[in-house]
Amino acid sequence: MSDALDYLIKARPDAVGHYFAFLKACGKHLDPKTRSLISVITKVDAQTERGFRQYLGRALREGCTPMEILDALLMAFPTLGLAKIVWAVDIILAMDLPGFRPEALAGNGEWHDLGATRSVKAGVARRVECDGRALFVYRDGKDGWRVYDSRCPHQSTDIPHLALEGTQLTCPKHRWAFDLRTGDCVDKGNSPLRRWESRVVDGRLQAYW
Ligand code: FES
Repeated sequence: MSDALDYLIKARPDAVGHYFAFLKACGKHLDPKTRSLISVITKVDAQTERGFRQYLGRALREGCTPMEILDALLMAFPTLGLAKIVWAVDIILAMDLPGFRPEALAGNGEWHDLGATRSVKAGVARRVECDGRALFVYRDGKDGWRVYDSRCPHQSTDIPHLALEGTQLTCPKHRWAFDLRTGDCVDKGNSPLRRWESRVVDGRLQAYW
């Protein structure tokens, strides 16, 4: 949510609360994916970049695939027109979401080597970079691993290593805080970190995207 809406909710909860209740009630007969896709399209139509980034992330978390999101954009062509669709795709490209890459859309994702497992002790989290992507890795005991995208689920801020304190990660932009043991958001926000599939092969940690 924008700082301005945050402010209005605090300053005029009697008035602005009705607006949010209205929005919530509007989609109550829709499944979460459909609701998310419609929200994405409204943000593209209004060309609010921050909202678009936020609702795009929400749609992906609700289980929409990149292909479904692209379909929704293209289906809305009669009202959006090409210029707004290109505007949205430019933002998707700037966000560098792996699932939208042509090779991923073609089902050609691959495993990436994140380094030797012995370099991370049990119970420790750290930030790593691999093949142009930043990730946070948490070793859960001897054999458990969790690998997260470094981008905040709120507005895609690339969270730096200085934001890591023990197993807590706090995004510097709006202070959403995450527990790397679970990926859950534990303060301010309401969405978890994006988690990548991982495996260990010959003592080396790999992640798939
Ligand atoms: S971008 Fe808003 S908390 Fe991270």
